[in-house]
Amino acid sequence: MIEVKGLTKRYGDRLAVDHLSFTAKPGEVLGLLGPNGAGKTTTMRMLTGYLPPTEGSASIAGYDILEDSMEARRRVGYLPERVPLYPDMTVRGYVTFWARLRGIRSPRKHVNAALERVHLMDRQNQLVRNLSKGLRQRLGLAQALVHNPAVIILDEPTIGIDPQQVIEVRESVRALGKEHTVLFSTHILSEAEHVCDRVLIINKGRVIAQGKPADLRRQMEPKTQLYVVVGGASGKAARQLLSAIPGVLAVERDGDGYSLTVEGDRDLRGEVSSHVMQAGYTLLEIRQATTSLEDIFLEIVGKSR
Ligand SMILES: Nc1ncnc2c1ncn2[C@@H]1O[C@H](COP(=O)(O)OP(=O)(O)O)[C@@H](O)[C@H]1O
Ligand SMILES: [Mg+2]
Repeated sequence: MIEVKGLTKRYGDRLAVDHLSFTAKPGEVLGLLGPNGAGKTTTMRMLTGYLPPTEGSASIAGYDILEDSMEARRRVGYLPERVPLYPDMTVRGYVTFWARLRGIRSPRKHVNAALERVHLMDRQNQLVRNLSKGLRQRLGLAQALVHNPAVIILDEPTIGIDPQQVIEVRESVRALGKEHTVLFSTHILSEAEHVCDRVLIINKGRVIAQGKPADLRRQMEPKTQLYVVVGGASGKAARQLLSAIPGVLAVERDGDGYSLTVEGDRDLRGEVSSHVMQAGYTLLEIRQATTSLEDIFLEIVGKSR
């Protein structure tokens, strides 16, 4: 389990991570979805003990990353953006090396289990230097899980590998999520959708939306909002009138007027104004606004392309 409270990182006067709070439960793959520079890597480096936070706190499996950093580190596996690999080691040697580094005295069983999980057993004697990028990524994954940590943190593990390997890495991540708490970062919306149980969309170091992928997608479907102020009608009459206009999905009181949620991306300004006037009222104001989630989505997609 991961618990993060108000986690913040400043680089000089640049705020890379801005009071981030979230929890990830056992058996869950939590996605960090955000464009380049959103603060994903910085967050992960703080959680894995490579970078001290400027402010805030976090715990891994109940151990505070600052106060119990040794215990916290023992319970986390980390696949960084760029995996440090030693080209002259064999696949098996590399995973064994990491197991020993994590204090496992007789790592044989652990190494076998890790190699099985990432389907590298048949390449155990191959030299790291001869592995393709996708296979190296799987080896990095084996390194991250060899000590059977409660929490596994994977920083954009599918970047730069070929499509077949992308599918395999995604499947491995999903499988890991059944038994571990997995934090997985990506800048690709569809990848977050396929791999994660829950997604935090982050931008400029802050969570700007979160939820199950299906819920997020629903929220992000373009919706037009109309803001309308009607003169001469009682609140009840105005609400009734506006609700009855075809294409209006919802009517909510908003300051002096009403916010209308409109089906799809229809422009209902003409209809609204004629309905209001036909009923003998006056239209004091009407304007169209897009939902903030749509803005967020467009911004993220725009930057990641
Ligand atoms: N070592 C560093 N020194 C200064 N600024 C940094 C450093 N590392 C990251 N940043 C800045 O912090 C922000 C977040 O970066 P990062 O965590 O790498 O984002 P992401 O992984 O989402 O692409 C960016 O604006 C980046 O330029
Ligand atoms: Mg990054």
